[in-house]
Amino acid sequence: MTTATHPYDALMDITARPKAVFVRGAGSYLWDDSRKRYLDFVQGWAVNCLGHSPPTVAEALAAQAKRLLTPSPAFYNEPSLKLAQALVDNSAFDQVFFANSGAEANEGAIKLARKYGSLHKGGAFEIITFEGGFHGRTLATMSASGKKAFEPLFEPKVSGFKKAKLNDIGSVEKLINSNTVAVMLEPIQGESGVWPATDQFLRELRALTKAHGLLLIFDEIQTGMGRTGKLFHYEHTGIAPDIMTLGKGIGGGVPLAALLATERASCFEHGDQGGTFNGNPVMCAAGLAVLEEINTPEFLKSVSETGLLLESELQKVSARHGLGGVRGRGLLLALDLKLPIAPGIIAQAFEAGVLLNAPQLDTLRFMPALNVTKAEIVEMIWCLDAILTKAGAARRVA
Ligand SMILES: Cc1ncc(COP(=O)(O)O)c(C=O)c1O
Repeated sequence: MTTATHPYDALMDITARPKAVFVRGAGSYLWDDSRKRYLDFVQGWAVNCLGHSPPTVAEALAAQAKRLLTPSPAFYNEPSLKLAQALVDNSAFDQVFFANSGAEANEGAIKLARKYGSLHKGGAFEIITFEGGFHGRTLATMSASGKKAFEPLFEPKVSGFKKAKLNDIGSVEKLINSNTVAVMLEPIQGESGVWPATDQFLRELRALTKAHGLLLIFDEIQTGMGRTGKLFHYEHTGIAPDIMTLGKGIGGGVPLAALLATERASCFEHGDQGGTFNGNPVMCAAGLAVLEEINTPEFLKSVSETGLLLESELQKVSARHGLGGVRGRGLLLALDLKLPIAPGIIAQAFEAGVLLNAPQLDTLRFMPALNVTKAEIVEMIWCLDAILTKAGAARRVA
């Protein structure tokens, strides 16, 4: 046994992290152990949809924790029944399976599609996914992802995923064969830099999958739960998929995810799917508190309006500094920097007490709390502007 020489050393070193240790959060702000305050436009990667430690979620967690932590996944519990019913009542789906992470929900979607193939399509198992897509870090979800950096890792991958091009219906059509059972995608590719599928492309996919008897799976782990100004992104398009996965915002900061399916697609039999913590009542109580708060016309309208404000402020920043376009929808937006300067900007913003995210070297991604205020947007923009001004001056000197 090796002895950790520093408290950081006891954790596996799976990513580069700043040395700050975060101890408290409230709304759009985080504090580290030196009492430095940060304005957070990352929010745990679009997880804290109501900001840090929202009172409603904290209270729901505490109340449920005092009542019942877990009976067993093989018994019913009240919060999971209520949350499943609320999701069904507010979506195009008939049944829900709760998971602990987005990857696990997507792993479930992949299994459900393969089960459907074995029951209804002569053993068809191939799923068409997309270049640039991201579905998680389990072996199957890494295999389903179209992230270049994943390609050499953990070979051999899980087979049965063919990659099409986003917004190119012909590229999907070409990959369909008798083994195909489903098409799976993020309506907006988040990790690869906020690349939206057009509403038209999503409608074409629906028509194509219907024509071939294939399942359409939307990974709404990043786009769901109000992030784009509708409860679920598919509502923008006038069509609905057969299967949808949710994660991140659904728990408002705690590990909760969900796999939703229409009656036709919901074909698991006993023994096919499960897990010790699935449908845990404490997590589902948090999910209920989140849904209650975000699922009102006023709240969702405010997300669209705040999204438009952030978008126009980013466009002004772009115009002032000669940068590229702004992409995305609602409060999932990206700014194209046109140069690989994103990591430097992130580091300077961190020093200045603003948390930003760079999914690519030339891209900044913005995914604040859905209740972020105008003043907080102005504060972030002011900081970003100052950093870009400094970077421009440095480039001119060089
Ligand atoms: C679209 C999408 N799918 C799946 C995942 C994986 O979710 P998790 O990290 O909770 O496993 C993510 C995470 O970033 C995501 O953005």
